[in-house]
Amino acid sequence: MNPTENIDKLMDESRQGEAFYISDNEPVTDTYVKRFYIESYGCAMNFSDSEIVASILSDCSYVPTKDIEHAHLILLNTCSIREKAEDTIRQRLKVINKLKYRKPDTMVGILGCMAERLKQSLLEEEKLVDLVVGPDAYRDLPGLINRVEDGSKGINVLLSREETYADISPIRLESNGVTAFISIMRGCDNMCSFCVVPFTRGRERSRDPFTIIAEATHLFEKGFREVTLLGQNVDSYKWQHPDTNELFSFANLLELVAQVHPDLRVRFSTSHPKDITDAVLHVIAKYENICDYIHLPVQSGNSRILSMMNRTYDRDWYMNRIMAIRTILPEATVSSDIITGFCSETDEEHLDTLSLMSWADFSMSYMFMYSERPGTLAARKYKDDIPDEVKKSRLSEIVALQNDIARAHNARDIGKTFKVLIEGDSRKSNDEFKGRTSQNKMVVFPKEPGFKPGDYVHVYIESSNSATLKGHIVKP
Ligand code: SAH
Ligand code: SF4
Ligand code: F3S
Repeated sequence: MNPTENIDKLMDESRQGEAFYISDNEPVTDTYVKRFYIESYGCAMNFSDSEIVASILSDCSYVPTKDIEHAHLILLNTCSIREKAEDTIRQRLKVINKLKYRKPDTMVGILGCMAERLKQSLLEEEKLVDLVVGPDAYRDLPGLINRVEDGSKGINVLLSREETYADISPIRLESNGVTAFISIMRGCDNMCSFCVVPFTRGRERSRDPFTIIAEATHLFEKGFREVTLLGQNVDSYKWQHPDTNELFSFANLLELVAQVHPDLRVRFSTSHPKDITDAVLHVIAKYENICDYIHLPVQSGNSRILSMMNRTYDRDWYMNRIMAIRTILPEATVSSDIITGFCSETDEEHLDTLSLMSWADFSMSYMFMYSERPGTLAARKYKDDIPDEVKKSRLSEIVALQNDIARAHNARDIGKTFKVLIEGDSRKSNDEFKGRTSQNKMVVFPKEPGFKPGDYVHVYIESSNSATLKGHIVKP
């Protein structure tokens, strides 16, 4: 087979949603075909968007490479959520600029939230960047690349009220072949005062449920066994059929995806405490394949701070939601996001966060120091007045407490047996598999003949630490 035929074949496979990489040592003899390299930062939505970008680029003869040195086009899909996230990208650009100095024909593009936030100024500040493309403008990439090839810069940062990329079949880039993300909505209509996302991602819009179900079905047929439905606030998913006017809520969507196949696990992220309904909890309870795990970011345990954050719930409301989860889903675990050192937060208010964490018994938390973002409500209205040392010491208290809670949480699983979906080899050893329980806990166990990634096994838990459970396969 000549290299061109090889590429055509790989391209055809890619259209069915498979990742495809041409060996980097193999010369691309067809001058029409070029290689792109993409790095993704930030949340799962960005990683999912990179797979949409890969699909759009494959339609204009770009194939992915894992080796930046071989790329004709280098893309960074960026995040703006905290100042540090943007600093990381600037550092990365310095390295890429050196590469571009050596190979001036390489095209460099910034995608995602930082492109949207900084717009034209990014092209002015970072002279070697050729392309700046916001999250709703990826369909324009082929046209923008042409413009750069013609010697101009390419920029499109228009946000859309309709774009959901519903018809695009993502190319799974870093896939383990078992778990995959499916975007179900874009943007966010909440105005949490600290958050840049409504500015970088635009208005909330939901994707046609029939395309979501088709994607989940297709993934299952390809051997995938777990899908995670993604949105900034999945509980506000809402889609109306244009002909019948039938309304689909998140509870309806979840049920439809669960019905794709009993062996397809369904997860979702992120839930919002103000919007998560008992109807959703009852759907989770009804289907064994919808995982017993809810990521329900609290942000703070203090009602005054929550009100300043414009989260539109208070401590009691959050506790009430946790109690509903415990009643309807007694086996479920809950995890959280926490921001420490928000404007004017006192020591007592910080203690409220610690006490709520213990009470809620979070299996895991993502914990951050407040980082002021230009243009947000908090940046305009409040002073970022908690000194860095105080933010740091509060964060380390929160991290230490979360470790203790997680260690105790996992210790309670010793002696129990869980159904685990095998995801692949464990990080430390080829003799061990890793997989997750329905409650989203990572389990490591010795391989046994006859089992492979994508299989379900029952694992008896013998030991644990704050991050992982360890055990061995048993008969169900
Ligand atoms: N849509 C999700 C969160 C998306 S951003 C939700 O509403 O829960 C992910 C997390 O980043 C947030 O939950 C928050 O904890 C954190 N975050 C967002 N903006 C931040 C900021 N300015 N400083 C520090 N952390 C922030
Ligand atoms: Fe940001 Fe709030 Fe929207 Fe989450 S819900 S993305 S924190 S504005
Ligand atoms: Fe970052 Fe944008 Fe996600 S700011 S967290 S990549 S929506």
